Amino acid sequence: MAQKTSLTRYLVEKQAGANPIPAQLQLLLEVVADSCKSISSAVNKGALGGVLGTAGSENVQGEVQKKLDIISNDMLIEAAEWGGTLAGMASEEMDEILPIPSQYRQGDYLLMFDPLDGSSNIDVNVSIGTIFSVLKKAGGGAVQESDFLQPGARQVAAGYCVYGPQTTLVLTTGDGVVMFTLDREVGTFVLTQENVQIPADTKEFAINMSNMRHWDTPVRRYIDECLAGKEGPRAKDFNMRWIASMVADVHRIMTRGGIFMYPWDKREPDKPGKLRLMYEANPMSWLIEQAGGASTDGRQRILDIQPTKLHQRVSVVLGSKNEVDLVTKYHLEK
Ligand code: AHG
Ligand code: MN
Ligand code: MN
Ligand code: MN
Repeated sequence: MAQKTSLTRYLVEKQAGANPIPAQLQLLLEVVADSCKSISSAVNKGALGGVLGTAGSENVQGEVQKKLDIISNDMLIEAAEWGGTLAGMASEEMDEILPIPSQYRQGDYLLMFDPLDGSSNIDVNVSIGTIFSVLKKAGGGAVQESDFLQPGARQVAAGYCVYGPQTTLVLTTGDGVVMFTLDREVGTFVLTQENVQIPADTKEFAINMSNMRHWDTPVRRYIDECLAGKEGPRAKDFNMRWIASMVADVHRIMTRGGIFMYPWDKREPDKPGKLRLMYEANPMSWLIEQAGGASTDGRQRILDIQPTKLHQRVSVVLGSKNEVDLVTKYHLEK
């Protein structure tokens, strides 16, 4: 019987391949994957583990924090801070960056994460996940917020772990996308897909339709055309999905194609959208591009955006390339 390839074996064998990654990055990815196993276990306990409900606090976005937002945030910090791989961390659930405590060796990598994506789905038992992004600290000296403000194109690793019927880790270090499924009996992430490819065309769109009256005209034009179906200009019938966990909507697209949009809308006209650039849009955009898809903010490639603030938001249009290109075209024609 073919030997199952674990995450560890995959990363070790990568060292002998055409695209080796530094040992420090390999170790970092291993500990992040380890903390995703712990988070998955906490998620799976649900009410039995006392992890549901709110924590009674708010994050920098003004969102009420769920207990699991904080539990998963702490698990990631505890898993990664001692390994000597990091200069610092940043998270959706922490206002400021987190330097590595002086009792631990300092490393060169910067780890950013959305520890629990899809928080509104925690209490209703719908798939949620963890999203992470790794940059390399460019300059010397004590870590500061400006070290994190690098375009997504400079990421050295990005991934997510979706806690659904399976717990699946999806990862890129710049030479394609691989998927690992957690074998709970052994506690090992096992390689289940390599060279993930997103179809360039799709008939499935993901957007929160309840915001339709707030959208800008290019988005409205695109969705109206999708809704017109075979009789309309797109000459095909579309299906719609909206899970309200970006990690689950993106995983569906990684698996069978589709287009996902969280565009600017006039509810918060001074904000470009709801999703966060550094630890949602950038890691997901790199994964999507590495799988042959496209990702823009409606006008420009998300990975080219020069960040100015750690928690800045961005409008997101990502997925099957030909659909993303069409939405981008409509924005540029406006
Ligand atoms: P988070 O739970 O980390 O704050 O992210 C939630 C995001 C994203 O996962 C999802 O696509 C989007 O919010 C859903 O927004 P709506 O509830 O407005 O549809
Ligand atoms: Mn949140
Ligand atoms: Mn999120
Ligand atoms: Mn979150």
